[in-house]
Amino acid sequence: GKYRVVSTKSMPGTRWINLLIEQDVRLEICTEKKTILSVDDIIALIGDKCDGVIGQLTEDWGETLFAALSRAGGTAFSNMAVGYNNVDVNAANKYGVAVGNTPGVLTETTAELAASLSLAAARRIVEADEFMRAGLYDGWLPHLFVGNLLKGQTVGVIGAGRIGSAYARMMVEGFKMNLIYYDLYQSTRLEKFVTAYGEFLKANGETPVYWKRASSMDEVLREADVISLHPVLDKTTYHLVNKERLAMMKKEAILINCSRGPVIDEVALVEHLKQNPMFRVGLDVFEDEPYMKPGLAEQKNAVIVPHIASASKWTREGMATLAALNVLGKIKGYPIWGDPNRVEPFLNENAPPPA
Ligand code: GLV
Ligand code: GLV
Repeated sequence: GKYRVVSTKSMPGTRWINLLIEQDVRLEICTEKKTILSVDDIIALIGDKCDGVIGQLTEDWGETLFAALSRAGGTAFSNMAVGYNNVDVNAANKYGVAVGNTPGVLTETTAELAASLSLAAARRIVEADEFMRAGLYDGWLPHLFVGNLLKGQTVGVIGAGRIGSAYARMMVEGFKMNLIYYDLYQSTRLEKFVTAYGEFLKANGETPVYWKRASSMDEVLREADVISLHPVLDKTTYHLVNKERLAMMKKEAILINCSRGPVIDEVALVEHLKQNPMFRVGLDVFEDEPYMKPGLAEQKNAVIVPHIASASKWTREGMATLAALNVLGKIKGYPIWGDPNRVEPFLNENAPPPA
């Protein structure tokens, strides 16, 4: 191969591998057993010659790594994720490295996990499962694992981008929930969908669902029964849900997070869960992954899963393919933006050329 590309992890499927090796690329997939690679591990992988890297959200792609990649002749990096809070895009610009991410292919899969966590929390599925396995079921009782009915309740969505909108659509149409959303941008498509669905219900003699766009995030927290967080993590969304905001929520509300852990102040959340046994939470992400704040794992009113929101076979293979296309497009100079699989241009496409 004329080009050398490194993938810091093995990824699902073979399409991404074939795409690269059919195009004169010598692909090296890291076989290191430890889950999270350090900056030094990645510098060693990059070596003296490396045209591009496919990396993971667990890695710290800052000044040091982009400098190393640039020294090795590299011009392309793709995160295998839609979120890129682990990537310093300005540092990449400085070293002339194009940065890609993998949006689009994970929208529905991620929204489906947010919906799964919502149902699991509402119906106390995990607690009930543990109860069965512990051999505690000794007969049907009117009070056994009574949870919340979603129909007619209000789902609150904070961040109505692709994933937030898909989740809203699932909860409104699937469970006939009302919708209140907060986003800096109006989500016209989502509003049209909920309006049309409301008309459909009315035409069938059912109570139409109602929706509104909130003028503040606090309005969503105060009014919604199930709240799902879908913002991008940056300085403005760090600890977006803190002690004060938890206190605004209904005592029996359900909070879902499939975005990034630091969006919630997890210490405050653990305290809130302890004080409010009827408040429930469904978490896919944590503030200091892979760790949880002390006390969280002991809370029965928390459903917790290990950052698996995008983990469907179709999506993970799609993410790997997009990541490979991102890198390949840059190093081969393909018109990658015309590729039907390519939903977004490089994140720093409009950045000034390196000095
Ligand atoms: C996963 O968390 C992603 O951002 O794709
Ligand atoms: C991510 O794909 C989002 O915009 O929600």
